[in-house]
Amino acid sequence: MEQVLIFDTTLRDGEQAPGFSMNTRAKLAMANQLARLRVDVIEAGFPISSADDFEATRAVAREIGTVPNAPIICGLARIALADIDHCWEAVRSARRPRIHTFVATSDIHLTYKLRRTRQEILAAAVAAVRHARSYCDDVEFSAEDASRSDPSFLADVFEAVVGAGATTINIPDTVGYALPDEWRELLLTLLDRAPALRRVVLSVHCHNDLGLAVANSLAAVTAGARQVECTINGIGERAGNAALEEIVMALRTRRDRLPYDTGVQTSEIVPASRLLTELTGVSVQPNKAIVGDNAFAHEAGIHQDGVLKAAATYEIMRPTDVGHPSNRLVLGKHSGRHAFGVRLQALGFELSDREVDEVFVRFKCLADAKRTINDEDLRALMQVPVS
Ligand code: KIV
Ligand code: ZN
Repeated sequence: MEQVLIFDTTLRDGEQAPGFSMNTRAKLAMANQLARLRVDVIEAGFPISSADDFEATRAVAREIGTVPNAPIICGLARIALADIDHCWEAVRSARRPRIHTFVATSDIHLTYKLRRTRQEILAAAVAAVRHARSYCDDVEFSAEDASRSDPSFLADVFEAVVGAGATTINIPDTVGYALPDEWRELLLTLLDRAPALRRVVLSVHCHNDLGLAVANSLAAVTAGARQVECTINGIGERAGNAALEEIVMALRTRRDRLPYDTGVQTSEIVPASRLLTELTGVSVQPNKAIVGDNAFAHEAGIHQDGVLKAAATYEIMRPTDVGHPSNRLVLGKHSGRHAFGVRLQALGFELSDREVDEVFVRFKCLADAKRTINDEDLRALMQVPVS
């Protein structure tokens, strides 16, 4: 099966989001977990952006990037040559370092932000990639705001930077503007107009402003992308990046339509999500796919009855495959008698069917008053003698 590389940017794009700053200690702890998760690339930081980020990226390269089978350790740099020098200093001690250099290619960015012409940008991008290649065999180039760039200019830039030595070409939907079918078409157009793309790893980096980051990433894979940039819990600029856990599990769960594999150790997904929450103090919403508290929880009676008979009735993945200890049957006002009886039995209460019926009526009254009923509530309920 064809392999899709997982490029994790939790420590760079993720960390750039408000409220997610991580110091060196936190980045090292997270990078360790990302290595356990077996991502292919860790983007550890943007070394020129601050002295702290330089230190943190260098520490990740030295401590995580030097162990056997370590992932590639990557640093981000603008196309300024001094950025690239700085980035190289930060990542160079890794066994497999990568320099990731980027510049915007859309007319909106060229006109208002960079105030440079297309020709100037193209020439500077080529010079930057050549400079990065003078340090390192592994150089990624990103065309920021690619989704709003002129495809023929993008194709020219990609042809030129591959000629200059880029080994991975990343196509970002920087502002989360693309729709899945359009995004797939753009990749196919680029592959057609820039044949050099067939000689390198094609990558995508999708933001979630319209909630389409994962859908766009998967659409790109069907068009030929073989690296996906993503973050744990989908953190990142504004509405975030494509969530790693969703991409990996979509590929694994829907192999019938998406015959691609990743090297990710999926049972480390929930530990990675929890660690990120612990390090940043920002929790995920309970209904977050794969890692949320409710992702494998069932409260409704019909669902609980189904899951007790066969988990496949309402679960498309095994909770243990992603690192949850088990699924959860939550007792509340929507719960049914089946799950209620099973929980009482698990707590050691041996009741006849008639007795369960009677306590169940009292349970429903309590559940109407209290959102969820825990084991202590059930024990208290059982203190009242059954008639
Ligand atoms: O969103 C973006 O365009 C980026 C690039 C630096 C890859 O984060
Ligand atoms: Zn980004």
